Amino acid sequence: MSSSADDSNVVFLNGLGVTIRAALEGDAPELVRHFNACGGESTFLSFGSGEYYRTEVEEAERIQASSAENNHLYLTAWVGGALVATLAVWAPTRARLRHVGEFGVAVRKEFWGHGLGPELLRRMLDWARSGALQKVSLKVRSDNTRAIEMYQQLGFVVEGTLRNEIKLNDGYRDVLLMSILFPSTT
Ligand SMILES: CC(C)(COP(=O)(O)OP(=O)(O)OC[C@H]1O[C@@H](n2cnc3c(N)ncnc32)[C@H](O)[C@@H]1OP(=O)(O)O)[C@@H](O)C(=O)NCCC(=O)NCCS
Repeated sequence: MSSSADDSNVVFLNGLGVTIRAALEGDAPELVRHFNACGGESTFLSFGSGEYYRTEVEEAERIQASSAENNHLYLTAWVGGALVATLAVWAPTRARLRHVGEFGVAVRKEFWGHGLGPELLRRMLDWARSGALQKVSLKVRSDNTRAIEMYQQLGFVVEGTLRNEIKLNDGYRDVLLMSILFPSTT
């Protein structure tokens, strides 16, 4: 993980003092609570309230794996000691695939609209662009206008549509595959 993306520091976003740093193994219980809460605050994640699919032990293992791989990144954002947003990038270890990272981002609803998502994304893209990855991709529901606008403003483009990829109580939703390229010169 590069130092430029994971240095702990405080930034002010719309007057909100936010500490952004890499996830630590001890954050695992807080992270599991965060994802379970985010899952209930919109239907845009792939899991609902209380449905996060990792235990605290599994989450701690994920954090450990993330800090051991230079093509992984796990950023956390804190306000007044509370975890308010996360952005995690994972990538394969196989030589033919390790240049492509996929990420997920989740901001607690109370903190939407402060620029936390774009701030985490900019840090992640600086890290990726500086040599960690040559391609970054994501999946987003095709009706998640807020997220799609954000990704497009930062240079992501739509690669394709996965039809009926999500099933909600009232029917199916399509998912867009989006990406940005930083091809290496070698
Ligand atoms: C999507 C999400 C990450 C955005 O993070 P955020 O910190 O709330 O982002 P912000 O609202 O500060 O703004 C990001 C951009 O979103 C867009 N945006 C914000 N509100 C919008 C709206 N109502 N309609 C359309 N676009 C909107 C804008 O492009 C905005 O940038 P700008 O204000 O500089 O023009 C956050 O809302 C979230 O976690 N949602 C639930 C989970 C989720 O959808 N995750 C992404 C799954 S792919």
